[in-house]
Amino acid sequence: MKFFSQGLVILSLCLPGTLADVRGPVYPAPREISTKSSRVAASWNALTASLDKALNQDDKTINATMKRLKNLTFSTGMFSLQDPDAETLQFHHSSPTLNGSLGVKKVDADSIYRTASVTKLFTVLAGLVELDAQDWERPLTEIFPTLKDLTRKNEKNPQPLHQIQWDQVTAGALAAHMGIPRAGVPFHPDLLISGQLDPATLGLPPLNLTEELAQYPCLQQDISKCTPEKYIAGIAANTPAFAPWASPVYSNNGFTLLGVVIAKLTGKSIDQIYQESIFKPLGLESTFSNPPKDPKLIARSVIPGAGKAVFTLDGGISKSSGGIFSTLNDINAFGRGILNSTLLSPTRTRKWMKPVTHTADLRYSLGQPWEIYRYVHPDSHVVTDIYTKLGDSGAYSAILVLLPDFDTGFTILGGSTDQPAKAVAWLTDLIIDAIVPALMEQAAEETRERFAGSYRSTVDGLNSSVTLSVPTSSEEAPGLAISSWISNGTDMVPVLSKLLQGTGVRLVPTIAQSGPPAQVAFRAYSLTDPSIGNGLPGTRLFSQMYDISDWAATLDMTTYGVEDVTLFVFDVEAKHIGRADAVTLPAYRARLARQK
Ligand SMILES: *[C@@H]1O[C@H](CO)[C@@H](O)[C@H](O)[C@H]1NC(C)=O
Ligand SMILES: *[C@@H]1O[C@H](CO)[C@@H](O)[C@H](O)[C@H]1NC(C)=O
Ligand SMILES: *[C@@H]1O[C@H](CO)[C@@H](O)[C@H](O)[C@H]1NC(C)=O
Ligand SMILES: *[C@@H]1O[C@H](CO)[C@@H](O)[C@H](O)[C@H]1NC(C)=O
Ligand SMILES: *[C@@H]1O[C@H](CO)[C@@H](O)[C@H](O)[C@H]1NC(C)=O
Ligand SMILES: *[C@@H]1O[C@H](CO)[C@@H](O)[C@H](O)[C@H]1NC(C)=O
Ligand SMILES: *[C@@H]1O[C@H](CO)[C@@H](O)[C@H](O)[C@H]1NC(C)=O
Repeated sequence: MKFFSQGLVILSLCLPGTLADVRGPVYPAPREISTKSSRVAASWNALTASLDKALNQDDKTINATMKRLKNLTFSTGMFSLQDPDAETLQFHHSSPTLNGSLGVKKVDADSIYRTASVTKLFTVLAGLVELDAQDWERPLTEIFPTLKDLTRKNEKNPQPLHQIQWDQVTAGALAAHMGIPRAGVPFHPDLLISGQLDPATLGLPPLNLTEELAQYPCLQQDISKCTPEKYIAGIAANTPAFAPWASPVYSNNGFTLLGVVIAKLTGKSIDQIYQESIFKPLGLESTFSNPPKDPKLIARSVIPGAGKAVFTLDGGISKSSGGIFSTLNDINAFGRGILNSTLLSPTRTRKWMKPVTHTADLRYSLGQPWEIYRYVHPDSHVVTDIYTKLGDSGAYSAILVLLPDFDTGFTILGGSTDQPAKAVAWLTDLIIDAIVPALMEQAAEETRERFAGSYRSTVDGLNSSVTLSVPTSSEEAPGLAISSWISNGTDMVPVLSKLLQGTGVRLVPTIAQSGPPAQVAFRAYSLTDPSIGNGLPGTRLFSQMYDISDWAATLDMTTYGVEDVTLFVFDVEAKHIGRADAVTLPAYRARLARQK
């Protein structure tokens, strides 16, 4: 078994000193986010207090970044599956530039913003609810006769550099930005069509505009008359950036088309689909797929500057890419609905919340259409995956951030005429840096209370006991540490080190059931010698794989009577904080009761 790992370290991100780990949570999700004693609330409150102070500084003394944030009208707040009161952690800022004649002057959790591309998450979720698995894999040529005809015609003279391979593009590819070019006319920042620059100043030759425009039927008329057929006619012959499924290119075009696909396959309008599959079941009463017209809604809408035209802009066929309007309360409920698998089965949610492709940077991956950020904790170097969707369109920017390891997340909705996306991105960094380490500390603290301590066999004469602890330093590898473990008189600490070939061990949660009986399973991973596998340039990519990858090397590896020797199953109280009162060690056929 020496084949398997001398230790552990994390899936190395080529970041110095990254510690080993098993992917996923290292502690059960914290239950106290908003309480007085919660580190998360403390951190959130400290951040928002300092923001409040900074935003109220004199304009003369604040720096450009702060000024930009001050110009952003925004609403932000947290949510949690474990603590409904997490939603009291909010912060709202009404910019001095919110002074037009229309719209809200002082924002709150019911203020309506454009969500821009956060819409794309609604579109994919609606598709997951409405379509079956085969629909996601069906080539678009089987859905749109125009594309089938074109593909047939192209077969005679294939030009993969110049022709989109429509018979290989699927709804699944569109949802992951792995299908078609970035933009389609008329939602296209084309230099010729926009006509704002003399092409000669850009070294571009003159073109006959009339002839060019004739290829795009949707350009000729008001956007509400842009039918799927006309839109597809305008994009069918575009030049692809990559072959389907080769490499991602952010594609509003793909999401416009995805909306068309879902509508076509279900025979419903996209408005009806959003309404029936998401807004209604999640109770999102202030979320709309058309610009609000009711004066009562306009009165609580965020309309920065003289931005009425921007606010009321109807995206028409592109609404599945960026057309949804919503509030902090509703986007938080949407985030909770996703995390809690309210509309999908838990298995489907888990499958959905995974990367589809990497990007060129180790820190960023892409799902359908999750923008996945890999946060590295500054002390332990453990990785927390962050699932997000950003929106950025004109005067509006928004982001939904989900932290599945902590059953929590937050939303920012913002509006400004002064680079709102930059301001929202900066704010997101501030919030992440404040709350992610705090969530880890809070989770560690609660795990200590729930699980740490001594457990002992109640069978007369059986000398079996285990003592568990949670590391107090944030620099130590996280998880439940085994301080001592005796099994029927045998000291298990050296035995376990031998079995896992590691210098130390941590238990991390793997499967939970709310009961009855309420139980949480933990498995052990082995700590990697910090001198190896730290991913520094020059360390060995292949020869260190087993040292670093517990999933491949040691996890679930050694069984006795077909039970893993590192499986610990805790019985927990169904209510209150979920304190453990016993642990079962299936391989050892032993149940140990927690000592008071
Ligand atoms: C601007 O000021 C804010 C708060 O006062 C501070 O956090 C930030 O680091 C400053 N940014 C720059 C670029 O100096
Ligand atoms: C913020 O808004 C003020 C007032 O409209 C404006 O003068 C300024 O240029 C804007 N942007 C920044 C970065 O301050
Ligand atoms: C999550 O779903 C369960 C039912 O599956 C429900 O009891 C619970 O209230 C939901 N939690 C949240 C925060 O929505
Ligand atoms: C709104 O505020 C901006 C900057 O503070 C100012 O330039 C503009 O004139 C104001 N507009 C109205 C309608 O007051
Ligand atoms: C552009 O093309 C149209 C249609 O083919 C033609 O009628 C027109 O004369 C052309 N314009 C120029 C400037 O060549
Ligand atoms: C404990 O060890 C003794 C002596 O080796 C053995 O006879 C007994 O079956 C063991 N009991 C359990 C529960 O493991
Ligand atoms: C239980 O076993 C441990 C390890 O062998 C030993 O040190 C300890 O004295 C034993 N305790 C009892 C009560 O037999």
